[in-house]
Amino acid sequence: MCGIVGYIGGKQAAPILIDGLARLEYRGYDSAGIAVIEPGSALIVRKAPGKLSALVDSLKGATPEGFSGIGHTRWATHGSPTEANAHPHTDCSQQVVVVHNGIVENYLALKEDLQKQGHPFASETDTEVIPHLIESYMTEGVGFEEAVRLTAQRIQGAQAVVALHVKDKGRLVAFRLGNAGGITVGYGNGEMFLASDLPALLPYTSQVAFLAPGEMVTIDAADARFRSIKGPAIRKYPQAAPYDSVAIAKEGFRHFMLKEIMEQPSMVHRAIGGKVSFEPADVHLPGFPFTDPQVREINRVVLTGMGTSLYACMVGRTYMEHIAGIPAEADNASELRYRGPILDDRTLVVSVSQSGETADTLAAMEEAARQGAKQITICNVEGSQSTRMAHGTVFIGVGPEIGVASTKCLTGALAALYLLAVRLGKARGFLNQGRVESLLNDLASVPRLIGQALEQEHLCERLSQKYGDAFNFLFLGRGINMPIAMEGALKLKEVSYIHAEGYPAGEMKHGPIALIDKSMPTVALAPSDALHDKMRSNIEEVKARGGKVIAVVTQGQHDLADIADDLIEVPLSPYLVSPMVHVAPLQLLAYYFAIKRGCDVDQPRNLAKTVTVE
Ligand code: G6P
Repeated sequence: MCGIVGYIGGKQAAPILIDGLARLEYRGYDSAGIAVIEPGSALIVRKAPGKLSALVDSLKGATPEGFSGIGHTRWATHGSPTEANAHPHTDCSQQVVVVHNGIVENYLALKEDLQKQGHPFASETDTEVIPHLIESYMTEGVGFEEAVRLTAQRIQGAQAVVALHVKDKGRLVAFRLGNAGGITVGYGNGEMFLASDLPALLPYTSQVAFLAPGEMVTIDAADARFRSIKGPAIRKYPQAAPYDSVAIAKEGFRHFMLKEIMEQPSMVHRAIGGKVSFEPADVHLPGFPFTDPQVREINRVVLTGMGTSLYACMVGRTYMEHIAGIPAEADNASELRYRGPILDDRTLVVSVSQSGETADTLAAMEEAARQGAKQITICNVEGSQSTRMAHGTVFIGVGPEIGVASTKCLTGALAALYLLAVRLGKARGFLNQGRVESLLNDLASVPRLIGQALEQEHLCERLSQKYGDAFNFLFLGRGINMPIAMEGALKLKEVSYIHAEGYPAGEMKHGPIALIDKSMPTVALAPSDALHDKMRSNIEEVKARGGKVIAVVTQGQHDLADIADDLIEVPLSPYLVSPMVHVAPLQLLAYYFAIKRGCDVDQPRNLAKTVTVE
């Protein structure tokens, strides 16, 4: 979850590290720190609790000078967000300095051993054992790079580490264990970079290489050398980075979240554009790995993910049943992995992950692989771990998502799941050509329909003024829009810190109705579909108890005008694609509620974009 950067070359390292950290702050913003080796070989470490701006303020313009360094932005796991717990961490002699992402699961035992050997500890973190272990190997006469490798063999758990040694300032050594986020190597002209994520590197280079679990890399200003943590060298060549830096700028929007909400029509258009053709209507998924006979063996689909991606899975379950004709279930990856699920080679496990690095999702995929299931991942980041673990990938393809609260990746993931379902349904003979054509026509209308739904931006802003003082919200939906109600509640919680519950509307009478009074507004998804009358009854039940209702309805549908307090009109949308349209006003509501309450939209407290710990 933490962000990592490293630099070595002919330029001043500190400004590049700070710029890189600014681009990675979405990964964590509990504290920030940098370490630079000055030309006289003095190690300068500067760190501060809070956001990166606090570190920059604390430097008071006196930025450390030197041509190699490492930086870190932290999402706290072990130890509160204090200066002492901020990274980088050093050994006793201030010779070894380390930044770390992930958890050293055996740190207590290692710390005890190291303390017995006389190593004093300055923080409550698990990380601090790493520089001390490197130091202890070096005092036995082992060289720096080898000491890092041996340390990588001693620590347990998924993590990524970058280390620097004062007497070896021409090199940075990094390793990756398991699936706690990656290390990307950036190749410059006479300079080299390391980062946990691409956005930190894109202003500097478009040539990158990715570290896989179990690999380590040593960089100097000219090149990178890769090897397995077990020892043997590995050949790896730079490749073109999949994103350009223009695509991740805010482009005049006040926040990434708003930019990413508003660009959904063009991004979804782009995402489906290359995967669909019409004469004849067909789906092209370049990363789809199975033959038609293999598809016909599949008798069950298990969809899994976390957070917003889990809600995509819940909609995807309906796609698998209605479009592909296969029994399907959706499960939270952190539960699936430990539940002892029964999977086999006739099960297709579809993991959904914007980042492709979420620890629980990757662990569920590992379990699926262990049981021999077929696997496809729906992912937005090329080269990420989930894409390496699955048999095949359907790329979401909506460009980098920077706002911590996921928006365009949900609509993009839904489009990808829909296309996957069409591909499966066709191969199984469940869909005839006419049905394929009508399904793809419906999908092709989504960018226009989302665009129309987004026209409600100003209404959503006004509603945030009207209801912005409420402490609790209920979101209700039915059928394919039930997960969208849950997503609406999640978005509101994430960015505005208002307590919100998302429920299947039919479940309301079994508990949530007890909470309803005039101070707890309900957002009800009540479009013109087969479940509309049921939703209207639920809205009546809320009103009968003095509750306020904001109803999301289909344009021109007036039966709720006298019942609901406020209507948000969205365009008439085909049932199966309607979640992609109906989520748009809920995203805007969450955004404007957060603005009204003065919250930090792009960096909500306690959250991180990619959760690489359990
Ligand atoms: C974090 C993010 C969410 C995201 C979830 C799953 O909680 O804040 O926005 O939905 O992780 O992430 P993934 O990258 O696997 O989709």
